[in-house]
Amino acid sequence: MANKWFETVAIAQARAKKRLPKSVYGALIAGSEKGLSSSDNTLAFDQLGFAPHIAGLTRDHDLATSVMGQPLSMPVIISPTGVQAVHPDGEIAIARAAANRGLSMGLSSFASKSIEEVAAVNNQVFFQMYWSGDRDTMVQRLERAKAAGAKGIIVTLDWSFSNGRDWGSPWIPEKVNLKAAVKLAPEVLARPRWLATFAKTLHLPDLSAPNMAHPGQKAPTFFGAYYEWMQSDLPSWDDVAWLRAQWDGAFMVKGICRVDDAKRVVDLGATTLSVSNHGGNNLDGTPAPIRSLPTIADAVGDQIEVILDGGIRRGSDVVKAVALGAKAVMIGRAYLWGLAANGQAGVENVLDVLRGGIDSTLMGLGKSSIHDLNRDDVVAPDGFFRQLGTK
Ligand SMILES: Cc1cc2nc3c(=O)[nH]c(=O)nc-3n(C[C@H](O)[C@H](O)[C@H](O)COP(=O)(O)O)c2cc1C
Repeated sequence: MANKWFETVAIAQARAKKRLPKSVYGALIAGSEKGLSSSDNTLAFDQLGFAPHIAGLTRDHDLATSVMGQPLSMPVIISPTGVQAVHPDGEIAIARAAANRGLSMGLSSFASKSIEEVAAVNNQVFFQMYWSGDRDTMVQRLERAKAAGAKGIIVTLDWSFSNGRDWGSPWIPEKVNLKAAVKLAPEVLARPRWLATFAKTLHLPDLSAPNMAHPGQKAPTFFGAYYEWMQSDLPSWDDVAWLRAQWDGAFMVKGICRVDDAKRVVDLGATTLSVSNHGGNNLDGTPAPIRSLPTIADAVGDQIEVILDGGIRRGSDVVKAVALGAKAVMIGRAYLWGLAANGQAGVENVLDVLRGGIDSTLMGLGKSSIHDLNRDDVVAPDGFFRQLGTK
């Protein structure tokens, strides 16, 4: 390809689709049930408009902020995702790209690279945990993350183990062995460039979850780790408060949709919450987080950092979220498509696309800083917003 640079996230997605085997691309699209929430996440941003100025604009814009005690060159954080098989460098490439652009990254418990390897190339990594295993296991994971240099913890609590999609779920093997290779051969051979990226490393995609390993044991397979999680008790609010007390430092609870839950998260002493529906991969029918953001920010924004996660595809989406009360946003699929399209450079490309979009949107709005944005900058249709958990 003559020009590997892509100018929008949509082009990165198209390249990812062309480059990845069907089932790997399908795993990135994700979604659950009918895909109502994943569609709403992006549709909702499309329904929001702007109220621009035409003179008195400025060329220089202050994009810098901080979240969970970490400086960010723009209000964007890499959301944690398990990215087995997208690219051999996986989370290392993502972590390097984020570090090069002055950004923090959330590393998933289900990541294909260890917290030690990732924290070695990005010194502002947050480790993401699910409620999986017993309390001793969770304390060991926190201690491991601390020793590796993680700067904060992200606890993801929104997962209801939904297992059906109207468009069919991709088949993911337990391990990439001969049997799996034969089954996957038709779709993999149709994607020679993806195959060549792995062939160069002389390694097959490793479908293990090194951060879920028990002390002294080897990394479980992705499904082995998922099974442990499925078998684990479901946490009460007291359990979440207990977990928070085990970590001395920045602590985000991810997956908040309701005001009453946001208040509980404040009460248990979290530093940060993300308004998120897991990218529409959890309970289908949950509204796009951008619809619930202002009500949650109004209720708790002066007591906790409020982050928006889900549906960000352009810099202007970042601006909409910040104008409606988010301190920053998290991104998932956007950087995964960049990774698939062009490895580390592709992730940097996505981050640069977002930065450029934030810059030009600020210019159009006549703002010299993201900190000057407010709700008057955004136009929302009647009935756009949701107030969940306010009664
Ligand atoms: C393929 C994929 C894997 C994900 N894995 C995780 C995960 O391991 N932990 C987690 O907290 N969230 C996970 N998420 C959710 C993301 O962190 C994030 O909430 C979501 O992708 C945001 O929506 P967006 O993709 O529209 O940006 C995953 C999302 C995708 C698409």
